[in-house]
Amino acid sequence: TNIGVVFGGRSVEHEISVISALQAINAIDKNKYNVIPIYINKAGKWLTGDVLLEVETYKSEEKINKECTEIIIDTHSNNFNLYKKTLWSLKLIASVDVVFPVIHGSNGEDGTLQGFLELKNIPYVGSNVLSSSTGMDKIVMKMILKESGLPVVDYLWFYDKEWHTNKQEILKKINKLAYPLIVKPSNLGSSVGITTAKNEEELESAVELAGEFSNRILVEKLVSDLQEINCSVIGNSDKQNASVCEEPLKSGDILSYNDKYTTKGGNSKGMSSAKRQIPAQIAPELTKQIQELAKQTFKVLNSGGVARIDFLINKKDNTVYVNEINSIPGSLSFYLWEASDMDFAMLTSELIELALK
Ligand code: DAL
Ligand code: MG
Repeated sequence: TNIGVVFGGRSVEHEISVISALQAINAIDKNKYNVIPIYINKAGKWLTGDVLLEVETYKSEEKINKECTEIIIDTHSNNFNLYKKTLWSLKLIASVDVVFPVIHGSNGEDGTLQGFLELKNIPYVGSNVLSSSTGMDKIVMKMILKESGLPVVDYLWFYDKEWHTNKQEILKKINKLAYPLIVKPSNLGSSVGITTAKNEEELESAVELAGEFSNRILVEKLVSDLQEINCSVIGNSDKQNASVCEEPLKSGDILSYNDKYTTKGGNSKGMSSAKRQIPAQIAPELTKQIQELAKQTFKVLNSGGVARIDFLINKKDNTVYVNEINSIPGSLSFYLWEASDMDFAMLTSELIELALK
C-alpha cells in the first residue's frame, strides 16, 4: 500500500507540519506500507523525493528545488497518480493508495485539501471536509458545540470590517462580556494572532492584530484560575477512544507559539519537545469528565482519525470548558497515545486502517 504523506503547505504552521510529518513518516511501519513524501512548499508547489526525509533538507530551499521532483496530478482520472514532466510527456512516479494529510492550519487542516482528495476519489486519513472546515473555524466550531450542549466560554464575534465601521457598537457588546478577555482570529492554529486583553486599550490592539490574520474575530471571556488540559481522541462517528490527559506548560497567562514549539536555541522541534505534564496531575473524576467531553466533541463535530481536544479549566471550582478541537494535531498527539499504550507505529497503522474503512 502506497501512503502519500502530504505536508508543509501554505500555512503559518508550515514548519510545525514538517516536523509532525517527519515524525509520522519515521513511525509508519515500513513492512506494511510504502511511504511517499509529498511536500507542499510555502509557494504551494508539490514536490517529492527522498531528500525530503531528512530534516536538514528544509534549511535550504535551493536544495529542495534542485533535488526534488515537482509533482503533477492529473485532473482527468479517478486515481491519485503522481507524474513528473519530461521533455515530451508526463512520466508516472507513483500511484498513491491512501493520502495521509499532515498539514496544520490553512489549506490542509481546514477542509480544502480534503475537498481536493474527495474530488480525486482517494481515501485519506482523518477528518472529512465538513468536520475539517468546522473544526478549523473557531467561531463556527463554538456555535456547534454550544448548540450541542457542550460547555464553552461566553463569546461574541464580528467581522473585521465591522470593527472599522462600527467600533462603538461592538465595544459596547464587548464591554458587557467584561474583562479580562481573549481575542482570536477565527481560523488559525498554534496561537498565532491571539492576545489577552485586560481593558479597552489592550482590546483594541488585540483586535487590530487578530484582524491581520482573519476577516472574522472571536472575543471570549478569559477563564480565571486557568489550567489548560488536552486530551486526544481516535475514531470515527461510530466509535471514539480517548487518550490520557496532558497539561501543556506555559510561560505566560496563555500558551504561546513559543511555548508550543521553540526551544531555547529557537529551533523548532515540534510538539513533542514542548513542556508538558503527562498524564496531567488532576483528579481521576476530572480526567474522566474531560475524556467523556473529548469524545462527545469529536463525535458532535463528525471528526475522524486522530484529533486533540483542548480544554480550559477553572482550577478553583473545577469548571470545564471545551476550548477547541485540532483535527490534525501537532505530532499527531503521538506522545499522548504512547502514554496510553499505543506506540506511534500502531497509531499510524490505526489511522491508515480507519481511512480504508
Ligand atoms: N495547531 C497545532 C499544530 C496544534 O494545536 O497541535
Ligand atoms: Mg489549535
